[in-house]
Amino acid sequence: MNVVIVGAQWGDEGKGKVVDLYSSRAEVIVRYQGGNNAGHTLVVNGKKTVLHLIPSGILHPDKLCLISNGVVFDPENFFTEIESLVASGGLHGKPSDRVKVSDRAHVILPYHRALDRMREDRAGAGKLGTTVRGIGPAYEDKVSRRGIRVGDLLRPESLKTKLERAIEEKNVLFERHSPENRVSLDEVYAFCLKIGEKLAPYVTDVHSNLYEAVDQKRPILFEGAQGTLLDVDHGTYPFVTSSSTIMGGALTGTGLGATGFGETIGIMKAYTTRVGSGPFPSEIEDTDPALAEKIRTIGKEFGATTGRKRRIGWLDLVAMRYAAEVNGFSGLALMKVDVLNGFDELQVVTAYEVDGKTTTRFSADAETLARVKPVLKTVAGWPDYDASKVRSVLDLPRSLQDYIRLIEDGVGAPVVLLSTGPGREETLVIRDPFGG
Ligand code: IMP
Repeated sequence: MNVVIVGAQWGDEGKGKVVDLYSSRAEVIVRYQGGNNAGHTLVVNGKKTVLHLIPSGILHPDKLCLISNGVVFDPENFFTEIESLVASGGLHGKPSDRVKVSDRAHVILPYHRALDRMREDRAGAGKLGTTVRGIGPAYEDKVSRRGIRVGDLLRPESLKTKLERAIEEKNVLFERHSPENRVSLDEVYAFCLKIGEKLAPYVTDVHSNLYEAVDQKRPILFEGAQGTLLDVDHGTYPFVTSSSTIMGGALTGTGLGATGFGETIGIMKAYTTRVGSGPFPSEIEDTDPALAEKIRTIGKEFGATTGRKRRIGWLDLVAMRYAAEVNGFSGLALMKVDVLNGFDELQVVTAYEVDGKTTTRFSADAETLARVKPVLKTVAGWPDYDASKVRSVLDLPRSLQDYIRLIEDGVGAPVVLLSTGPGREETLVIRDPFGG
């Protein structure tokens, strides 16, 4: 069985922990979209590791980690992560045997980051709040066919012409708005050659690796980054990232056909957060700033990539139902349940009021969504309980069981995993999507 992990909200749902847990059941772990804008925090034996690009499965000694064609690949970040994993003892074996990158992944170069920063600086109030990692500009180059792919770094003879074409228009922009970022062809070419040489042992045809794994019935875990509502097509455009963050992204991002996929597990928090700009119907920052601050503090809701404060909101069943529709969730992982321990009551968004009408349909149109007033249902909170004694859902406090049922009914998918803390052991597995 192969399993896809997808963020069901606006990212930061706790995918890193689930990928780490499920990695023990998989043999191959694949990142299929996004880049080092992601930040997956893992706590293993009390030790915290934050990964941005390398699949979270790397901490399991015998797994093959793949970075596929759908990813935008920052080589500098890649080597920083490899080096820090080796130094901390988190990476066993020869790094280039453990992690492979697709020759078709597009490369993030310094000028992509400079462009991202320049645009955000110039946007004033209209800024998107990107992670400034050059993600958007790298994907733009991919679709405008000016991108440099990992395989290009290994072909010095044709690379220079490609780079020349890639930087031509950018230099016109830099010249006008930030001359200090003007790109020198010779410098960027020398940089790429150096990177190419270092990267060569890691480069592979991921598509073939995956087909081989499918053929040999080796279980594969597909690790999504960001979240459904940040999807470039189905998210709250333009306040989105530049990749396909939904399950469909795993198909185009790897080149594996539909039969190669089994279950799709949506990862969601017991509440909602969002980083960066854009509409957020269940947000409580304005209505109850003290409560937002309390949840942020208990939940440590600060960006793993940029350190930014995450915006806080209640659980939104309208948005979650939409996420289930676009992804086809076969199960849900409910994360950070412990953050809400001890609250007397909680609110859940069950419908939206927009332009005087009540609806349970989610509109991904950012302007419509910005006008939405949430319809809130008050539910009983649950007391603190001893999570170490919980062996099944029936051991949970009654009101938490009711909360889970409300989610399952509202979203239309069963909760298969419950997380009650950051550690591997603070987890209740209700059903294992890998089977058995
Ligand atoms: P970009 O992906 O850096 O272009 O940023 C676009 C939007 O996606 C911004 O609102 C970011 O805050 C958001 N974003 C990107 N990556 C993540 C993530 O891993 N978690 C949460 N939000 C993210």
